[in-house]
Amino acid sequence: YQSSNGLLELDLEARESLVNLGGQQASLLTYNGQIPAPRLEAKPGDTVRIHFTNNLEQPTNIHYHGLHIPLVGNADNVFLKIEPGKQLTYEFQIASNHPSGTFWYHPHLHGLVAEQLFGGLAGMFIVRGELDEIPELKAAQEEFLVLQDFSLDNRGKRADSAHMSLMMGREGDIIAVNGQANPSINLLKGGLLRLRILNASPSRFYRLALEDSAFYQIATDGNSFSEPIEVNELLLTPGQRTDVLVKASQESGQYRLLNLPYDRGSIGMMGGGMMGRRNNSDTPIVLAKINYKSTVESLTLPTKLAPIEPLPEPQTVRRFELNHGMNPAVGMAFLINGEPYDRDRLHTQVQLNTIEDWELINIGVMDHPFHIHGNAFQVISRNGIPELLLAWRDTVLVKRGERVRIRMPFRDFAGKTVYHCHVLDHEDLGMMGNLMIS
Ligand code: C2O
Ligand code: CU
Ligand code: CU
Repeated sequence: YQSSNGLLELDLEARESLVNLGGQQASLLTYNGQIPAPRLEAKPGDTVRIHFTNNLEQPTNIHYHGLHIPLVGNADNVFLKIEPGKQLTYEFQIASNHPSGTFWYHPHLHGLVAEQLFGGLAGMFIVRGELDEIPELKAAQEEFLVLQDFSLDNRGKRADSAHMSLMMGREGDIIAVNGQANPSINLLKGGLLRLRILNASPSRFYRLALEDSAFYQIATDGNSFSEPIEVNELLLTPGQRTDVLVKASQESGQYRLLNLPYDRGSIGMMGGGMMGRRNNSDTPIVLAKINYKSTVESLTLPTKLAPIEPLPEPQTVRRFELNHGMNPAVGMAFLINGEPYDRDRLHTQVQLNTIEDWELINIGVMDHPFHIHGNAFQVISRNGIPELLLAWRDTVLVKRGERVRIRMPFRDFAGKTVYHCHVLDHEDLGMMGNLMIS
């Protein structure tokens, strides 16, 4: 779906549908019957109007992850609850100075987020703007990869997750790339390939590498770097996006896109055994194949993307301790500063048009990708060591034992929203806070 004449308007229906998932019949939760959900594309300045119908058997809503749009009303409001059979029209404007990048949309009703994403409800939202006008990027072949994982029983129904796998964060044994198993991408004219990749899995991390080639990364989340950076591998946590260029070589051939093993921690010893350990397998998994032909096209990378300004010093510094543990009110839960999410509390109140530093401290035994709605931030340091790469993000990995300092301007939009761990079972089990910007 693309906007025309400044308007992106469409009907979107959430429903359980029978789909073909990598050759196998599966009954999944879909938007408009598709896995992944339809890709939406708008331009800065556009109005977006989505006529949404909930035909699931549960309440739901839609969150526009990473977009800098109003947090209240029928825009990006995670406190809305749309009951089964009900409709709602989402409407918002994308500001004319909005960054161009790869964003996405997914349900966000607390307590059901992991389940609904694991059912398949997720799609890309592209803002196409200035960045995409850079000649080298315009000439590149553009492909979109939505990474999801699923768990099915032998009749193709969604399998239930056991309690321990919820604590760890549910992972499925089926990995789908655009709803397919290990698809092939054919680079039609050689030259550069631009891959926009989204981790839409509720808990699985992807450690991406190309066999025999580097990536030239141009953006994280929805924001470009100032120039391409050569990297051999990329860790993509749930919620994160990356935008990379791949060079075909002089002869025809194939690159395999691999998912390398990564250990994101585990709940550790409980009752004498290692419980809930659900790491990626120990061997690389092939996610996709990229076939390329010998090329006469240019392999020149763009030299400049978009300038990034460092932020001034913050007015306020806050600390957020991430952990899980027993809470008298709810039992085992995931906690921020010792407390589980409480929908009636305002955990953090900030002032509009100020800059804050948040010190994110993981004192637990599992990695937590921390995500904040509404505004992007820059990573300032990790474990006290200054971060050299200047980049905007909306989700940052805080590894177990790590202390990450981020700096964030609260711009343009007042209202109430949330921050949380993007391992969505952790979010559903309490690792979230309400944020009031006023
Ligand atoms: Cu992608 Cu609050 O979420
Ligand atoms: Cu979000
Ligand atoms: Cu977490």
